[in-house]
Amino acid sequence: MALITQAPRGTKDKLPADIYKWHTVEKIAKAVAESYGFKEIRTPVFEHTELFQRGVGGTTDIIQKEMYTFDDKKGRSLSLRPEGTAGVVRAAVENGLLGDALPLKVFYFTNCYRYEAPQSGRYREFSQFGTEVFGANKPDCDVELIALADDLCKRLGITRYTIEINNIGCPDCRKKFQQALREYYEQFREKLCRDCIERLERNPMRLLDCKNADCICFKDNAPLMDDFHCCDCVEHFNSVKAGLNALGIDYKINPLIVRGLDYYTNTVFEFCSTEGLPVFGGGGRYDGLIEEIGGNPLAGAGFGLGMERIIAVMEHDSAPFEPAKSCDIYIAGLGDEAAAKAMELTHELRRDGFWAETDLTGRSVKAQMKYADKLGARFSMVIGSNELESGVVTLKNMQNGEKQEVAINAEGIKLCLMEF
Ligand code: HAM
Repeated sequence: MALITQAPRGTKDKLPADIYKWHTVEKIAKAVAESYGFKEIRTPVFEHTELFQRGVGGTTDIIQKEMYTFDDKKGRSLSLRPEGTAGVVRAAVENGLLGDALPLKVFYFTNCYRYEAPQSGRYREFSQFGTEVFGANKPDCDVELIALADDLCKRLGITRYTIEINNIGCPDCRKKFQQALREYYEQFREKLCRDCIERLERNPMRLLDCKNADCICFKDNAPLMDDFHCCDCVEHFNSVKAGLNALGIDYKINPLIVRGLDYYTNTVFEFCSTEGLPVFGGGGRYDGLIEEIGGNPLAGAGFGLGMERIIAVMEHDSAPFEPAKSCDIYIAGLGDEAAAKAMELTHELRRDGFWAETDLTGRSVKAQMKYADKLGARFSMVIGSNELESGVVTLKNMQNGEKQEVAINAEGIKLCLMEF
């Protein structure tokens, strides 16, 4: 098939017939985020490559293998954002948002780009609903973020999911843990996959994330992060658990959650479908990221939910989407004069917020009524010379066939549309 009629691999069109699903999630996510005091932020789709290298971490798969990177005409290296957090932190630092009232809470809907092997639920262009909180170091902030994502799932009608949490500690306790992992995995070096041999050198925590059958078996006896936590990290995580318990939020502790991005510290969490669908959300605390990106040292935390994956989970759960708006009225005109009147009425009704349609193709009234039916129009009317002369037209209810006489003016028609 010719390339120009084929979308690039790993991308998916969002078609008019399905867009109501996106609108449902966007509307509810925005309302829930605003009820927690979050304000929307929008950042560019591309950033300097170095931002992601420094922010996400040079040893992660995202940076090493998955970024869409290109030089612009001046030879500057730019990358399409593979995730939302780094750009939002950059924007907050650059625009001085972190010197103002803290904590700062922002949310965003953003397209992300990762050159991954496409498979069910995994795309090269995908969309995230994300939140970030800057300047709140208390465990209550982690609890609030998990509560927000949990509320959102409930408001969307998602029922079959679990929240998994883990404590990956501060950089100091992580250093000791990484050393222990290195020593443990070293004995299996010969049996590890190529990626894991690299992880052994560069990023041992990612060894726990390997899905390769040859490597998975070594996880069972691997050292546990819990044995390496300092007192502050233990205390922080205990408070997060207590906070979740106090709010009645169910969770499971999963010591194998390490996340695929390097900026996390302490609490990390994932939202997992219990129906075998891919993980649909993840986040955590990142207390060193703002400083890494050039700001003053400041705590940070957030999460990202994959929009495509949320919609897939909702479809699987038969969760309700808000139905798409249907056409209020189709107005057909027989002859030039009546067609002009139909156009004028359509225009007036639209200005008052009704979805009104009239003919743009010159087809017969019968064909126009077929089209009105396809649009799901609630009402229709046909204006001809008789109607123009009498000033009265028949308004037909397309659902039950009922008919009613109305004066040919926008006010009269509007009243009828609102009454029915
Ligand atoms: P992440 O876990 O890499 O975290 O992505 C968050 C969510 O984006 C995933 O749970 C998944 O639903 C969706 N997602 C990721 N990759 C793909 C893909 N290839 N195709 C479809 N959906 C995908 C982050 O990106 C962090 N920035 C989240 C965060 C915000 N942490 C703190 N603040």
